[in-house]
Amino acid sequence: MITKEHITELKRRGNSDIANLVTAQRDAGSVNFILENLGQLPNDFHADFLYNLLKHDHSQVRLNAVKNIGKLNGKSDTKSLIALYKNETDTSVRREIVSSIGRQRKCSNKPILYNFLSDEDPKIVCQAIRGLLVFENDQEVEEHLRPLINHPNEMVRTVIYKEYFVKEQTKKDALPHAKTYDFLKNVIVNADVLETLKFVPDESVHLTFTSPPYYNARDYSIYPSYQAYLEFLEKVFIETHRITKDGRFLIVNTSPIIIPRVSRSHSSKRYPIPFDLHPYLVKNGWEFIDDIVWLKPEYSVKNRVGGFHQHRKPLGYKPNSITEYLMVYRKSTEKLLDWNIRSYDNKTVEESKVAGNYETTNVWKIDPCFDKVHSAIFPVELCKRVIQYYSYKGDLIFDPFGGSGTVGRTAKKMDRLFFLTEQEPKYFEYMQSKAGAQNMFNECKTQFLTLEQFKKNAK
Ligand SMILES: C[S@@+](CC[C@H](N)C(=O)[O-])C[C@H]1O[C@@H](n2cnc3c(N)ncnc32)[C@H](O)[C@@H]1O
Repeated sequence: MITKEHITELKRRGNSDIANLVTAQRDAGSVNFILENLGQLPNDFHADFLYNLLKHDHSQVRLNAVKNIGKLNGKSDTKSLIALYKNETDTSVRREIVSSIGRQRKCSNKPILYNFLSDEDPKIVCQAIRGLLVFENDQEVEEHLRPLINHPNEMVRTVIYKEYFVKEQTKKDALPHAKTYDFLKNVIVNADVLETLKFVPDESVHLTFTSPPYYNARDYSIYPSYQAYLEFLEKVFIETHRITKDGRFLIVNTSPIIIPRVSRSHSSKRYPIPFDLHPYLVKNGWEFIDDIVWLKPEYSVKNRVGGFHQHRKPLGYKPNSITEYLMVYRKSTEKLLDWNIRSYDNKTVEESKVAGNYETTNVWKIDPCFDKVHSAIFPVELCKRVIQYYSYKGDLIFDPFGGSGTVGRTAKKMDRLFFLTEQEPKYFEYMQSKAGAQNMFNECKTQFLTLEQFKKNAK
C-alpha cells in the first residue's frame, strides 16, 4: 500500500522513482493519492510525467496534475496548460489551469490572462484577475481590468470596485469608528422615524435591531397597500443604511403574516414580508449575511391547521407557524470584519468577548414575551443574543420602531448605548413609565424627547 511517508521518501531519492510509481498505478484513486501528497516540489523536479497526466481520462487526475504543475512556478510549461484549457470541459480543471498560470507571476503570461478575462465562467475571470493583480501599478493591467466594473457578474464587479474605485471615493468619516455623537446617546424620540432621521448624521450607529410594524396586522400599522408598506420600510432602511457605520449590521425581525378573509367566499391572504423586503434591502446597499430562525415553543395566533385536522383533504393543509425570521445584513463595504474589530481598543474587545455557552446554530429557541400594553414586544433573551453577537461595549444600538423599549433597556444592561424612535405617544409614555418603575433609563440619563427637542439638540 502506498503511504505518505513512502511518497516523501521517493521524492527525496529523486524524481524518476515518483514518476515510475505513478506510471505503475492502474487506478485513478491511487494516482490521485500520490499527486495529492506530493507536497512542495524541489527545484530540479522533472515534471514530464505530470504533463502526460494532462491527457488522463479521469478529470480529478488532470486537476491534480495541473495543481502540481502550478507548484513548478516559473518553470512550468504554459503551452501544455493552454492546450488543455482549450479542450477541457471540466470546470474545476479549467479554473485550476488559470490559477496555475496566474501563480507563475510571469510578465509573459499577461496576454494569456487577459484572454481568460472574457471567459464565460466568472470564477475563471476572478482567477485571471487574481493572477493579474500581482503586477502592481502596471498601467497595462489596469487598462484591462478597470472596464470589468461593468461585468455582468457581481463577484467580478466587487473585486474591481475594491481594487480601483474605492480609493477614489473620499469619505468624510467625521468620527472614529468606535465613537458616536453625544446627542444620540440614550435618547428616545417620540416621532416618526423618517422625520427624526433627517437630523441624524451619516455613520452614527453601530447596530440596528428592530421589528417593524406588521403590515396592517395591528392597530398601529395601517398602510394603504402592501406596496406602500414595503416602500415605507424601504425608506426607513435606506436612511438606516446612511446612519450606519461602515460594515456594521442590521437585523430585521419579521415573519409572513396573514390577513383574514373578507367573507367565506374569499381566501385569507398571506404576505411573505421577510422575502418581499429582502430585495429592497440588498438593492440599497445591505449585504445579506444570515437568516436566523426564531423558534417559539407554540404558535401564538389562531389554530390554522384546525380545518385540515377535521377534513384531512390534501391542498387544505395550513401548518401552524411557530417561527419568525431574524434577517441579518451588513452595510456593504470593501472592508473586512477585521477592520471593524481593529477599530476598538484591546480592553473593549476583551470585555465584549462572548464568554461561555453561545448559540451555534441559526435556530434560536426562545419563549415569546407577552405584555399588557404592547402587543408585540421582543423577548429580552432575543435582544441579548443579538446585542452580544453583533456589537461591542459602548456601541450605539438603534431601534427605529422602539415599541416598549426592549432594545434600549437590554442595550443599557449590556453596557451599550441606545437610540430609539417610537411614534405612538401611548408606547412612548409606556417606556417612560417603565423607566420610572425600574429606575433603568434614569440611571443612564435617558432623554425622552419630542421631535422639536431632538432637533434642537442635533444642532
Ligand atoms: C413591532 S413593534 C416593536 C416592538 C418592540 N420591538 C418592543 O420590544 O417593544 C413596532 C413599533 O413601531 C412603531 N411604529 C410604527 N410606525 C412607526 C414610525 N413611522 N415611526 C416610529 N415608530 C413607528 C409602532 O407604534 C410599534 O410600537
